Amino acid sequence: MTRIPFIAGNWKMNLTVNQAREFAKEVAGKIPAKEKVESAICAPATHLEALVSLTEAADLKIGAENCHFEQKGAFTGEISPLTLKDLGVKYVILGHSERRGYFFETDELINKKVHAAFANNLTPIVCCGETLEEYEAGKALDKIKSQIKEDIKGLKEEQAEKLIIAYEPIWAIGTGKSAGREDAQKMCKAVREIVKEMYGEKISQKVRIQYGGSVKPENIKEYMACEDVDGALVGGASLKPDSFIKLLEGGKLA
Ligand code: PGA
Repeated sequence: MTRIPFIAGNWKMNLTVNQAREFAKEVAGKIPAKEKVESAICAPATHLEALVSLTEAADLKIGAENCHFEQKGAFTGEISPLTLKDLGVKYVILGHSERRGYFFETDELINKKVHAAFANNLTPIVCCGETLEEYEAGKALDKIKSQIKEDIKGLKEEQAEKLIIAYEPIWAIGTGKSAGREDAQKMCKAVREIVKEMYGEKISQKVRIQYGGSVKPENIKEYMACEDVDGALVGGASLKPDSFIKLLEGGKLA
């Protein structure tokens, strides 16, 4: 089956709101049609309203980088998934290795957030991936299996099939050391197998799996040529309009 590629930028804590506005104006009119490639920019919460309003006419969706698992309440500094939905946000990155590492997010917490995202019509981009130590010790598969089994459990079928899962080896994030094509394919295929064990063949064929970690316009084509790689989650190379457009052009269906 043909899965429409999904390429998303992850801006992390970069660009000001004014720079985000400039970005949106520059990419307007250059975003490929969503039938060829679905695209999104995931940006800091402070930037979302401006980005949503400036991209409404384009086939470019906006995502958040995190959300809380409750709709509202006494959670100072947190981001409500209900508010994201209200703003017109479509995606939310959950369980990024920086959230796991710097903010101590556990798989149990990520699972609650995945459920909250679906309850608010947000499509979660669930991240998994191993450290360099785990990679070198041959434990990469065990690591992502334990993450995914916990992170996406308990979903309804109609939710599970919409999942985006990003395989991002931690040693490749922001380091310029991207995974080899064989590793990326092997791991993304393994992700699909895990989804199959949990939700069956049909759903596993629908779920889109991204590779992430030092993806650039120069290397995106080699990843997209892999059977089980359906897109990319891109940090650094998504921050400049021309580079972002090149990523979409490089990843779209022929
Ligand atoms: P990078 O980041 O493309 O800058 O390596 C990827 C990510 O963290 O999602």
